Amino acid sequence: MPALASGTSGGTAAPNGVEVMALIRTRGIEKSYRTGAGETFVLRRIDLDIEAGEFVTVMGPSGAGKSTLLSILGMLDADWTGEYWLMNEPVHALKPRARIELNKAYIGFVFQQYHLLDDLTVYENLEIPLSYRNVPRKERQAIVADALDRFQIVGKKDLYPSQLSGGQQQLVAVARAVIAEPRVILADEPTGSLHSSQGRMIMDLLKQLNEEGTTIIQVTHNEEYAAYGNRIIQLRDGWIVDE
Ligand SMILES: Nc1ncnc2c1ncn2[C@@H]1O[C@H](COP(=O)(O)OP(=O)(O)O)[C@@H](O)[C@H]1O
Ligand SMILES: [Mg+2]
Repeated sequence: MPALASGTSGGTAAPNGVEVMALIRTRGIEKSYRTGAGETFVLRRIDLDIEAGEFVTVMGPSGAGKSTLLSILGMLDADWTGEYWLMNEPVHALKPRARIELNKAYIGFVFQQYHLLDDLTVYENLEIPLSYRNVPRKERQAIVADALDRFQIVGKKDLYPSQLSGGQQQLVAVARAVIAEPRVILADEPTGSLHSSQGRMIMDLLKQLNEEGTTIIQVTHNEEYAAYGNRIIQLRDGWIVDE
């Protein structure tokens, strides 16, 4: 993994002298909500550099801003200030449409609350990320069949999310996030509803994807699962307090 150059730029000098940015770079990201009394900040001055191939764990108490940070990094939330570059693209300067395109092209996201599409079956939910990437129909069928098998949910393929347990929905949500082999996986408490054996299965899968080059940022409260990553970021009340 390339080491970060010291100094304020946070970049690494390439042999030709052109600065190569981290895969993810944020500077001064802030987010707040207007409340009756005034303004409540949920993220404060977030400066992050995450290199391609890292496996980062975000930890912190409930309400610290972990899900908010992941949503911003996944370009699912556009209501913030500061600067964010993803693969040298200035996300802060992009229009909503372009942000969505970047999300579809590069990000696999596991939502804390799963967010499966209620009127689509498990099979159809898994097909969506592949259709975003224009994978042909025959190939889609093979890839979905493989994922159903790997996640041991073959028997659930024609069911709707409301017919699944929380744990099963979470498995489908993880399968959906990884199925199109995204460059970056953002996983918000991806094992929170799973039995420990299923949780370890998911963590082993993330580890394997990371070894194959996928950059991963996960949120977890589990120390054992945090240790799968190479780096821990602690959030408290919207501030990064420790790396
Ligand atoms: N729509 C909203 N209006 C006001 N505050 C909100 C809203 N959504 C989230 N928050 C607040 O933002 C803070 C961070 O939330 P979140 O990112 O979900 O934390 P975490 O994932 O670390 O538990 C919390 O204090 C939460 O109450
Ligand atoms: Mg959360």
